[in-house]
Amino acid sequence: MKKIILTGLRPTGNLHLGHYFGAGQNYLKMQNDYDFYLEIADVQALTDNFDNPEKVRKNVYEITKDLLAIGLDPNKVHFFIQSQIPEIAELTVFYSNLVTVSRLQRNPTVKNEIAQKKELFGTNGESITYGFLGYPVSQAADITVFDGELIPVGDDQLPLLEQCREIVRKFNSIYGDILKEPQQVLSSSTRVKGLDGNEKMGKSLGNAIYLIDDEETINKKIMNAITDTNKIKKDDPADPEKCMVYYYHNLVNTTENTNKVCSECKKGARGCVTCKKELIKAMNDFLNPIKEKRKHYEEHPELVTEILNKGTMEAQIKAKNTMKKIKEAMKINY
Ligand code: TRP
Repeated sequence: MKKIILTGLRPTGNLHLGHYFGAGQNYLKMQNDYDFYLEIADVQALTDNFDNPEKVRKNVYEITKDLLAIGLDPNKVHFFIQSQIPEIAELTVFYSNLVTVSRLQRNPTVKNEIAQKKELFGTNGESITYGFLGYPVSQAADITVFDGELIPVGDDQLPLLEQCREIVRKFNSIYGDILKEPQQVLSSSTRVKGLDGNEKMGKSLGNAIYLIDDEETINKKIMNAITDTNKIKKDDPADPEKCMVYYYHNLVNTTENTNKVCSECKKGARGCVTCKKELIKAMNDFLNPIKEKRKHYEEHPELVTEILNKGTMEAQIKAKNTMKKIKEAMKINY
């Protein structure tokens, strides 16, 4: 039996290069070796987008198309929609007895997010909702209702996994050894920097290249990317390590071309405009096959619906099964 791997994505926007190199590439490898549950976490997205249900609904389809376009195989991966698994909501209620409010308030991921969402939750988090504060409990239910053992997530999610393990231990100590403790799968991939040189590429930072960006958009974004500010004239030598153009050459261009970019840049033998134009070409060569694949699903939206329905049905079976054991253990199997 293959081990179960589970991860979730909030459907709040399209995927960008940060998602691809930071996570997607890893998923592509893992889909061959594990029983892979991929949750489109619409209920979690609603915790801070409850007033914008249209956005969440639209992005359920957008993100699924993006994931299919990068090459995830619906015959290997169970794509499912969180809201369609009522057992997750049910289990969240049971788990909420096993967590203190102060423990949730101390969760570093939750704390950070509250600080970033002042408009929604108040300057000092005084308007925090019950739902948002409690989403780690719901995420623990996401993971354990599928017996998720291996969880491929970025380091920002570690406090949520730790909280999940605490819930599991508490549950098992009271009701018997039913649940598995999940572990992070360390990703070999990298966090991708933004066009502005920021350590993180992110939607809210406005510094991302999206997998669906058209050629004109890519052109504009790369032409405006940060280069070594000490380089004034075309033939000034420069430091590629201070240049986002070189950084993206590394991601999408061949090793041979990238080495050439590096040595010419250091010698002052390459102008930034030429360098950017070459990157634009390499970026398009990288993105075009992904966009081509995506187009197929855009033209056949019924395929996307079918994939989500099938994955959701498979996930429902698994969740029902675990829930039966949980209810027996909790003596609520009437
Ligand atoms: N919290 C995750 C994020 O924001 C998404 C998520 C929801 C998740 N459920 C999950 C991740 C279960 C791992 C396992 O990226």
